[in-house]
Amino acid sequence: MSAKYAVFGQPIAHSKSPQIHEAFAAQRSQALKYERIAPNEDEFESAVEAFFAEGGQGANVTLPFKERAYAMCKVRTERAEQAQAVNTLWMENGQLHGDNTDGAGLLADMIRNLNWKLINKRILVVGAGGAVRGILGCLLTAGAQEVVITNRTFERAEELAQQFNIRAVALDALAEETPFNIIINGTSASLAGESLALPLGILADSAYCYDMMYGEEPTPFMQWAQTQGAEVSDGLGMLVQQAAESFYRWHGWRPATVALLKDMRDASTETLS
Ligand code: ATR
Repeated sequence: MSAKYAVFGQPIAHSKSPQIHEAFAAQRSQALKYERIAPNEDEFESAVEAFFAEGGQGANVTLPFKERAYAMCKVRTERAEQAQAVNTLWMENGQLHGDNTDGAGLLADMIRNLNWKLINKRILVVGAGGAVRGILGCLLTAGAQEVVITNRTFERAEELAQQFNIRAVALDALAEETPFNIIINGTSASLAGESLALPLGILADSAYCYDMMYGEEPTPFMQWAQTQGAEVSDGLGMLVQQAAESFYRWHGWRPATVALLKDMRDASTETLS
């Protein structure tokens, strides 16, 4: 019988996780069943419990349930504790365990896939919601000179800055900062097709801009960055890399990601043409 895995989220119909995990498993001819589960708002916990009671071996969790998955876990990794959110669940010794692989996925994509250098760089993170809390701990291990956070609602940036011992800067004070080498958009603005109110002149020469969202077309943030000559990326690679980290956690071996990522990009280009 195939091993059983799933991703929980709401909505979940367009999740690429089944495709990604099945492609990873196929690299070693491993049989794996990976389904999408969209519990009702008040049924997330019971749906997770039922999944594992029925022999589920691992689950991913996405919006809006990551914080609730965190609350359910008896044992959590350090990076899950920092994120206060869990995207990877499994059972061990009869206890629900949780990890958060988002930050590791982002770093792997920037450093290994995109070959971006983070050491001694000035990094600006935009946003102060769950997505940003999920990646800050890992980002702070990357050897940057400084990681600064900004957000539309400044108090939320200040709160996160305090928790992670970094500096928060208001949007309208960014122009006074030394220019940044890397800007990471961790807001949900791109989902709504909205741009960020970032001032001009805050990018250093040869800067990189990363949008943690992905879609068929460059997000408004990516377009903003491109017009200023920055190298840009969407978050598709982060999605594949966080999945690879989850896969490693469950199966104990690291899948190859480069060819899969290329196939996914080619497929989305074909859909457009
Ligand atoms: P998530 O879990 O995706 O991070 P969230 O906790 O609702 O979701 O946080 C969304 C983030 O996107 C916040 O930083 C939000 O800014 P506010 O704190 O000011 O609400 C940011 N965001 C959403 N839409 C935005 C927009 N149009 N412009 C700028 N920031 C936006």
